[in-house]
Amino acid sequence: LSILVLHGPNLNLLGKREPGVYGTVTLDEINQLLEREAEALQVKISPLQSNHEGALVDAIHAAMGQHQGLLINAGAYTHTSVAIRDAIAAVAIPTVEVHLSNIYKREEFRHHSYIAPVSIGQISGFGAQSYWLGLIALVNHLKKS
Ligand code: DQA
Repeated sequence: LSILVLHGPNLNLLGKREPGVYGTVTLDEINQLLEREAEALQVKISPLQSNHEGALVDAIHAAMGQHQGLLINAGAYTHTSVAIRDAIAAVAIPTVEVHLSNIYKREEFRHHSYIAPVSIGQISGFGAQSYWLGLIALVNHLKKS
């Protein structure tokens, strides 16, 4: 099994960016955590970060036939992007949505996700562990189906 891991806008700044909200862990460290778990689960992961909505849409299209699952933190595009939602619906690749922060505990505009209705489920609020939990849940889902 191969999993595409997409990190959306501003997540390249993790570690430096609002550490009170997002913690001090860097994106490289998150990818390393995922890599270790992927090895344990005997799956392959391909991480990609982009600040550009269209680049994320392109990556989702390119996943067709290449990856069996999608783990995505769409960052702020979670709350704005019909295009990313439509891309996930179009490729029909099982998707798990993750967030470092608990988006329901924060500003009202973060409470709505365009990605949630096209995802198997969402993990929000556990920092870097949200990704780790999300990967395990996604792989369990794929191995069952
Ligand atoms: C985030 C939550 C979003 O609201 C925010 O725009 C982000 C990060 C998270 O992981 O907590 O960029 O997706």
